[in-house]
Amino acid sequence: MGAGVPAAGGLSLEQVDPDIFAATQRESRRQNDAINLIASENYCSRAVREAQGSVMTNKYAEGYPGKRWYNGCEFVDQAEQLAIDRARELFGADHVNVQAHSGSGANMAAYYALLKDGDRMLAMDLAHGGHLTHGHRLNFSSRAFDVVAYGVDRETERIDYDTMHALAVEHRPNLIVMGASAYPRIIDFARAREIADEVGALLMADIAHIAGVIIGGDHPDPVPLCDVVTSTTHKTLRGPRGALVLCREEHAKRIDRQIFPGIQGGPLMHTIAAKAVCFKEAMGSDYKECQKQVVRNAKVMADALASKGLRIVSGGTDNHLMLVDLTPIDLTGDVAATTLEQAGITVNKNAIPFDPKPPAKASGVRLGTPALTTRGMGADEMTLVADRIFDALRHVDDEQRLSLIRSEMLELASAFPIP
Ligand SMILES: Cc1ncc(COP(=O)(O)O)c(C=O)c1O
Repeated sequence: MGAGVPAAGGLSLEQVDPDIFAATQRESRRQNDAINLIASENYCSRAVREAQGSVMTNKYAEGYPGKRWYNGCEFVDQAEQLAIDRARELFGADHVNVQAHSGSGANMAAYYALLKDGDRMLAMDLAHGGHLTHGHRLNFSSRAFDVVAYGVDRETERIDYDTMHALAVEHRPNLIVMGASAYPRIIDFARAREIADEVGALLMADIAHIAGVIIGGDHPDPVPLCDVVTSTTHKTLRGPRGALVLCREEHAKRIDRQIFPGIQGGPLMHTIAAKAVCFKEAMGSDYKECQKQVVRNAKVMADALASKGLRIVSGGTDNHLMLVDLTPIDLTGDVAATTLEQAGITVNKNAIPFDPKPPAKASGVRLGTPALTTRGMGADEMTLVADRIFDALRHVDDEQRLSLIRSEMLELASAFPIP
């Protein structure tokens, strides 16, 4: 007994791979030290990370609970069934698939389930806040389907539903996709349903960004109105990196078949277990309160920035994010993002609607409050951070000033450790 080659299984990450251990430690420090305003990021709980780092990663489980291609699935079945049951309860959906590895994959599965190659979809223009999977010219979505884009009104910078209606009547899409990566306002799913019904289209909502805000009760719920709803689990939702698909019963079989075997093989059981934990957390009342605070914080920050003279696209925000137009202070998004990084504040450059600048420069930055809110920050901290953002953007070449702000932001971050 015991004459085989010993496995490295018992050694720690630090012992096996000091380089990756060091990178992980540095990333942990970076996350703790930075004032993170990236709207698509958040900090999942220790419980979520424990599930994500668990032995579930070792298991192959192609198929669905109770119908697997592999043996030994009784416990991963329990985890996946819990994730499904909790998500169904949380979102009030007929059917849930929790296996999508990513938001892009969830959208791919949804499109292939609902459409045939070459069918037409109407989706939000990327330049107005839509996502790559809503029809970017290099993305599978525009290769496989005929995508017509709707956008926002030039004056109000809110979705132009009248033009969307006219486009739907003219192009008769098979599917209308609502949802965005950089849209700060309420999305009118009821109006979209009316338009879809009038032209005989199916309706899908991609709530990757706003899922948490919907659970918090500050955004209308698309689930009762849509054929299919997709979401990531790692943005406002505060779970592990991944996604899910919700749908009406009539689409259930096709959605499941498109995820597996359509576009994926074995599910990431460790991630599915972590999704189950996230959904359990999301059913608690403190979670809803945190989501409400995310929205309150975004409003405070948008108001504070506007009071300094910065232009907030569409005049403010209804959700967790805002777009700041830097044209009035003669800066581009890339310079602003680099400057803020020097000042200890992490953001991303972002095009604003009808942006005359190329995307790599962009006229704006996108700011979101989920991550800071998860750390426990409230209105006072938002006002302080907004003030320092403005200060930094007025002193892009003043290294001393930026370094001073950086120290202050570091102090603020240390007072609100990542849970
Ligand atoms: C609206 C929307 N849909 C889909 C996705 C894709 O998610 P993932 O990065 O997990 O593929 C994103 C991510 O930014 C998004 O904002």
